[in-house]
This record gives sequence, structure tokens and C-alpha cells, in this order.
Amino acid sequence: MLSLLSSLLCVTLLGLRAGAFPIDDFSVTSQKFLSSAVPDGFSINLDEERLVQFSDDEPPVWMTEREKIRAKALGRKFFDITDTPLSKLAPAPLAASRAYPKLNKQDLVHPVLANLTVDGMITNLQKFTSFRTRYYRSDTGKASQQWLVQRIGEITEEYASTSLAALITVTEFTHPWGQNSIILRIKGASEEATAENGTVLIGAHQDSANMIPFLPAPGADDDGSGSVTILEAYRGLLASNYTPVQDVEFHWYSAEEGGLLGSQAVASAYAQRSVNIHSMVQLDMTAWVKKGTREEIGIVIDYVDADLTAFMRTLIDAYCSIPSVDTKCGYACSDHASWSKAGYRSAFAIESTFDNSDKNIHSTNDRLDISPEFDFNHMLEFSKLSVGYIIETAGWAK
Ligand SMILES: *[C@@H]1O[C@H](CO)[C@@H](O)[C@H](O)[C@H]1NC(C)=O
Ligand SMILES: *[C@@H]1O[C@H](CO)[C@@H](O)[C@H](O)[C@H]1NC(C)=O
Repeated sequence: MLSLLSSLLCVTLLGLRAGAFPIDDFSVTSQKFLSSAVPDGFSINLDEERLVQFSDDEPPVWMTEREKIRAKALGRKFFDITDTPLSKLAPAPLAASRAYPKLNKQDLVHPVLANLTVDGMITNLQKFTSFRTRYYRSDTGKASQQWLVQRIGEITEEYASTSLAALITVTEFTHPWGQNSIILRIKGASEEATAENGTVLIGAHQDSANMIPFLPAPGADDDGSGSVTILEAYRGLLASNYTPVQDVEFHWYSAEEGGLLGSQAVASAYAQRSVNIHSMVQLDMTAWVKKGTREEIGIVIDYVDADLTAFMRTLIDAYCSIPSVDTKCGYACSDHASWSKAGYRSAFAIESTFDNSDKNIHSTNDRLDISPEFDFNHMLEFSKLSVGYIIETAGWAK
């Protein structure tokens, strides 16, 4: 999730040109961090010029990495399009709308849901948040990524039957900054179905970032929660010996916090190869239930595909024990936006309405033990949603 900071600050910035961000709004400590030498364990040139897009209505602007960090700290959301200009996204042609069928796989989905638990999510998130930061340009961000690849391998080893394991591949999508995106594919039983109806895709972002990137960022909610939520969905599917009809992919993106860098690189590579993607669902922040609020699943309605979003509500009604609530998140809010931009259908589910979401993100307080509001049972509802989405869309080859 890109920054949640006050929209008031954004408003004050709207009229300003790149490079003219008011430093008064950025604390003295922050300035010190960004003007002194880059600490050991990080590889970033703060003076490097990047091309950044803040909305579809304004042309992109060049600014340094330092100015980008400052803009983000001030609550602005953006794509860093330096490596992935629009021309590289080559939008895939899509039919204008799609009618999603009525749910018809309840008998297959429910037994898998019954097998999902919080146990793995707790141990996985404890480990994932123990890295000092998962910043995409840090040594510990590389190490956390390598741990996640290893953990996916262990789960596959433990839960997949021999025949199922033969259908599974884990690939690192290499990025120049060090931390790679992870692509996990379960090959579908029918190549024709995948070619005609597309790969079913679910994603989360593995990187974390403190507002000052050199400070600790446990990133428990943003987006450690989404990362382990889809991992539990994967484990549950394997334990049920699930074989999809169409290909299914789980993606853990790098560098969401740097301006959706990892997902743009992946989406543009898929678009350039004209890969048929059925739909892409992003989970970014799945843990927080604000004290005194009703527990619900936020369904983002801006910068998403309307038909797919309506289908998500149907899935929540059928497979989750809490209701959905519509919310908005803004431009370039999370990795689903990269897929929309590349011409694919995407949707985004989040822990609550945007207003009620966790305000500890991008700080040392984004910890799983910060408050009882951080709720693994809430995350479990999103694992259920993930399983329902995958089985209903990719089918089950029996
Ligand atoms: C694609 O999906 C449609 C609608 O569910 C289905 O009728 C068709 O058989 C699928 N195509 C293939 C090749 O499986
Ligand atoms: C769920 O777990 C139980 C016990 O671990 C197992 O016997 C059962 O087959 C599982 N069900 C599914 C659908 O995987």
C-alpha cells in the first residue's frame, strides 16, 4: 500500500513542480537521513533521476530518488515508470466486459476452506517481520526474499503429492535492484483452457519500507499480511490435492513501495508476450480490524475492473463469514494498478475501508504484536476469499 498519510498534505503539494517539495513538512531527522551517506546494507543512489507519474492527467516528471522518498512520505501515490514506460506496457486487447458465471463449485471449495488455519500464517509472519527491513534496495530485503522462496519450497515439499509437485514451478523474476519478484505457478490440466480463458493470478507485495527507508520496517500488515495470506491459501490447496484446469499463479512482488516497480516489470513482460491473464487479484494489508468497527473486507472500487470487483463481492458472500464494504484507494495504490495499466482485469481487497485501515504502516510500529487490532483470524477470511477465487475461476480437474 502506498502511503496513507493525510490528503491535506497532498493537496498542498498538488500545485508544486517536482523537486519543489517543501522540506518543512518533512522532519529534520528525516532530512538528516537523506542528506548523509547511504548506510551499509543499502544500495541506492539518492541523486539518481527517476521518471514518476502521479496521475493519468498529468505528464510524468523527473525527480531524484531523494525527492521520490520525500513525495511518498508526504502521502503522494505514484508509478515510477523509468524502467517501464507506457510503450513497454503494450496493453493487451480485452473484451469490454465479462459476465462472471454464478458460483457452482461450493462443494469443492468448502472442504478446502475447512482446512485453512492461522498457524502457518503466524509462524511465517513472525519470521518475515524479523528481517530489519524488506526494503527492495537492502541486503535484508534480498535475504527476506530468499527466505520466502525457500519457505514456498518447504510447503510444496510437505503438502504437495508427487503428481501435483510435478505441476509446480517457482521462478524468480529478476530485477536490477536485488530483491526479485517471486512467481509460483501451478500448471493447469488443460492447455487449451489456459490459452482460451487465461491464467488466474493472485498477488501481494513482499517488500516493506519505513518512511525513511534506512530505518527498520517490520511491515507486518503492509504487506507481510497479504504475503502470508496467499501462502496459506496455497498450502490449503496443496493439502487438498488441488489441480486447476487453467494455470494458477501466485505472485509476490518486489518494490511496490518504490512506485510499483516489481509488478510493472512483471505485467509488462506478460503483456509483451501477450500472455492471456484471466484476472488478477491483489491482497495488500489483510490484518487490521480497527477497535470499535465492524469486521469487514474492503473492496476497492477505483482503478479496478468493475465486473471482476462485483464477482469478488459474490465470492465474499459465499465463502467468508464477514461482509464486504466498498472503499476507494486512489491512483497507483497497489500492484493491481500495474495490471490494469497493462490492459488486464484486476481487483483489490483490503482489510477494511481505507479510513479504518492500519495507520502504523511505513513505521517501526507496523508489528504483529502492536495491538489486538492485528488479527490473524481476519487474515484467514482473506485466505478463504483467495481459495474461493482460485477454484471458481481456474476450475478443478478431477
Ligand atoms: C472457457 O470458458 C468457457 C466459459 O466457462 C467454457 O465454456 C469453455 O469451455 C472454456 N474453454 C476451454 C477451452 O476450456
Ligand atoms: C483436511 O485435513 C484433514 C486432516 O488433516 C484431512 O484428513 C482432509 O483430507 C483434509 N481435507 C481436504 C479437503 O484436504
